[in-house]
Amino acid sequence: MIPFNKPYIAGKELEYIQQAMANLHLSGDGSFSRNCQALLEQELGVTRALLTTSCTDALEMTALLLDIKPGDEVIIPAFTFPSTVNAFVLRGARPVFIDIRPDTLNLNETQLEALITPRTKAIVVVHYAGVGCEMAAILRLAQQYGIPVIEDNAHGLFGTYQQKYLGTFGCLATLSFHETKNVICGEGGALLINDPKYIERAEIIREKGTDRSRFFRGQVDKYTWVDVGSSFVLSDILAAFLYAQLESRQVIQSRRQRVWDYYYESLNDWASSSGARLPFVPENCEHPYHMFYLIMNSPEERTALINHLQARHINAIFHYQPLHLSQMGQRIGDQQNDCPVAEAVSDRLLRLPFYNELTETEQSQVVAGVKEFEIRN
Ligand SMILES: Cc1ncc(COP(=O)(O)O)c(C=O)c1O
Repeated sequence: MIPFNKPYIAGKELEYIQQAMANLHLSGDGSFSRNCQALLEQELGVTRALLTTSCTDALEMTALLLDIKPGDEVIIPAFTFPSTVNAFVLRGARPVFIDIRPDTLNLNETQLEALITPRTKAIVVVHYAGVGCEMAAILRLAQQYGIPVIEDNAHGLFGTYQQKYLGTFGCLATLSFHETKNVICGEGGALLINDPKYIERAEIIREKGTDRSRFFRGQVDKYTWVDVGSSFVLSDILAAFLYAQLESRQVIQSRRQRVWDYYYESLNDWASSSGARLPFVPENCEHPYHMFYLIMNSPEERTALINHLQARHINAIFHYQPLHLSQMGQRIGDQQNDCPVAEAVSDRLLRLPFYNELTETEQSQVVAGVKEFEIRN
């Protein structure tokens, strides 16, 4: 079987975990956490990076930091993972779903202004497959209306838009280190803070609503409950694993580039003749080779191709179901926008096996499997 994903071990994970154990610092914010955070801050150029237990939790922190309250509206693409929207719904906000562009599958910035109301408290962008959203237009509107922008950058670590790293555009951004991502630690994430006014409160929210971070820095002589918060700190054991991965980021990225380029080059002609579509990367974006998807001509064709590949022991899978059509989306949504592009794409998209150690032999089997599939237009 060629699986869809295989977690990659860069090499030094176990050694660093042993070091973390020898340090006798197993909870969060030990030396490995500090190393990961410093590396992310320096490499990306963000003011502050805080490791969290997941991207989901980092998103929940953004909703707490923006003081999202019942009745607030948050604009969110219909084509994303439930965590993007849950974070705000947990605080009582009403999600306003925006449709996606047919080319990048990112939020369609031309539809943004029409959805802004006096109740809009945040615009959340998702860089799908690590391809940057049209941040110039989004930030222009956000600034004009005084609305904060949050980047859910679960897919896009080391991707760029206009030569600037994704995750550095919004006042806050989030990362995922789930085992399906490029850089992993099993379950983990990070909150990236670009506007320094959020740093102190983010440290408090992340530490169960206490000023424990200030206490450890010697700024207060005891720590206490000062705000709302939760337990969002990543264990240093997982940070040790993550540091080994972050140190190997160049190897990881170049392996993934090879896999992505192979698919793109091998399937380009087939796509032109079959009417299927390959990922699109605008010229102003460099993507981090996170995934490779195909968009087929119809939902039936997509399902038939998944089954066809499954019969050849190749595991290709679909992706997000549009949130406004989900059970929860329909329950909480009133007068929800139609999102026809999200609906049409989600029914026709499949992702091919994609992992660092996918060999050329395996990849050629996947490509042959796709090409053997007969398309009936
Ligand atoms: C866009 C997006 N945001 C958030 C998440 C949640 O990430 P995590 O599993 O780290 O909580 C995912 C998961 O894949 C995702 O695709």
